[in-house]
Amino acid sequence: MELTQITQVDNVRLSDDGRAVRILDQSRLPNETVYLELSRAEDLYEAIATLRVRGAPAIGIFAGYAMYVLALQTKANTFGDFLSECRKNHDYLNASRPTAVNLRHMLDRMLAVAEAMPCMDIPSIQQAMKQAALAIHQEDIAMCTAISEYGLSLVKDGDGILTHCNAGPLATSRYGTGLGPLFLARERGITLHAWCDETRPLLQGARLTAYELQRAGVDCTLICDNMASIVMKQGKINACFVGCDRVARNGDTANKIGTSGVAILAKHYGIPFYVLGPSSTIDFTCPDGDHIPIELRDGEEIKSKFFEQPSSLPEVKCYNPAFDVTDHDLITAIVTEKGICYPPFDESFARLFGKTWKEEEA
Ligand code: MRU
Repeated sequence: MELTQITQVDNVRLSDDGRAVRILDQSRLPNETVYLELSRAEDLYEAIATLRVRGAPAIGIFAGYAMYVLALQTKANTFGDFLSECRKNHDYLNASRPTAVNLRHMLDRMLAVAEAMPCMDIPSIQQAMKQAALAIHQEDIAMCTAISEYGLSLVKDGDGILTHCNAGPLATSRYGTGLGPLFLARERGITLHAWCDETRPLLQGARLTAYELQRAGVDCTLICDNMASIVMKQGKINACFVGCDRVARNGDTANKIGTSGVAILAKHYGIPFYVLGPSSTIDFTCPDGDHIPIELRDGEEIKSKFFEQPSSLPEVKCYNPAFDVTDHDLITAIVTEKGICYPPFDESFARLFGKTWKEEEA
């Protein structure tokens, strides 16, 4: 597959008949390429919960289309009944995964479209919801492109970049966030070498990041998570690029489990640690990382998911948090579509996004 095919394809979109959400099932990659068309509420929920669609921005895009597709199936005759169905769909999908705030932001945005049209007939509201879902998708494409440009400005030809989890086209749209600069560099003949953490326990780095980079012709090497320290010590890493699932307004950042360890190592070795993400991932209502809900997943993901035989006795207990929070003082900069934010992050966010915290708290 060519670079253009990786960065120009929509892995989440409306089906051709417009009545379902079409996704590339990420849980089957890299060995199987399977597309699914989903329209039942339970299947849409399941796709998020089991990471068939994953990555904060991709979940947000999916949520937009899902709300529209479910709204098409309404049997309601009145605005009130239609709105309560939309609210039910919103709450149901919002419960599928707790950490990535893009899910809630995009569900809220879709619900607000319906709430704002009490005097309109249901087909007109459905049409407005379709336009909103398409707009969410288009905005994400533009945001990823801008983030990739800003990210590329932080590195130079020949640099080694450490990545964790997957923040590429599969997790977003088109270029991705954390991986965007690598694809853009490849397009422009700039050589960057990616070192991809495999990302235990669900192996997004091995299954998805290495897949995307390899297919696009970006020079990449896969390492186990516990090898990050040695490659840093050996001078192979000039910068770390990671995505994010929720950024608190002080800059504390939730991302895939293991990210905070990478940031601690980077600080130890004096390597810049960059978080790349769209402003839809910033939760201005969240003061700090202690307020970010962390998803806990089934321990079988640790013991048996990718092994021929379980790695541990059945009675061994497992603790499987899917995300951790990187403290803001470990982060060199947060790269958004509007620009690069340096510490103190609450001040740079306020400058860039024109937010005042009182307004958000109200
Ligand atoms: O559990 P996942 O695979 O959905 O976790 C994804 C991540 O942590 C990504 O780094 C994050 O969503 C950013 S994607 C641009």
